[in-house]
Amino acid sequence: MSEEHSQFIKTPRQLITVVVLSFVVPILLIVLLVKFVGSTPRTGAGGTAMSTEAVEARIAPVAKFELKDANAPKTLRAGAEVYKAQCSACHDSGAAGAPKFGDAGAWGARISAGYEALLKSVLGGKGAMPKQSGGEFDDIEIARAMVHLTNAGGAKFEEPKAPAPAAAASK
Ligand code: HEC
Repeated sequence: MSEEHSQFIKTPRQLITVVVLSFVVPILLIVLLVKFVGSTPRTGAGGTAMSTEAVEARIAPVAKFELKDANAPKTLRAGAEVYKAQCSACHDSGAAGAPKFGDAGAWGARISAGYEALLKSVLGGKGAMPKQSGGEFDDIEIARAMVHLTNAGGAKFEEPKAPAPAAAASK
């Protein structure tokens, strides 16, 4: 056999050493590489993607969603509050011909129609006034706002009470 082809591995011992090293060295390299990548501080876009603030901001549309329990006892909002939120835009200024808050002259004839008739106009709409029910407020809260408004115009309506729990459940 030719002597020029000198072999690198000459003994079984050397063979075992090479085989073992060929396993150990790549694994060591991989371990070191993983450590290196993991320890580099993450900067740039997406670097803080998993921070508490970032996660909270992402889930906010769902997490802040409030499920309303229809059976939960509800505290009715006061008439003045509802008036300010939903009626004052027109009735403070008299926009679109709305009878103004506190203007007894404008309210007198309307008040004489009576509580029920007025409430019907408010909930269902009348003339330039769109219907006021079905929005953010309960009908009874709208009624409270109406009492707040009409009493300022000279009426002596009584603020509607919250329905008894049994009555509320049966409807
Ligand atoms: C977009 C403007 C607008 C808003 C908002 C509005 N109103 Fe009116 N409201 C009017 C106008 C205009 C009239 C006069 C309607 C007519 O007689 O043709 C009116 C009339 C009324 C009347 C008299 C109804 C009648 O039968 O004569 C009451 C009571 C009343 N509003 C209460 C309320 C209450 C309570 C709210 C809030 C929950 C409210 N309005 C919100 C414009 C508005």
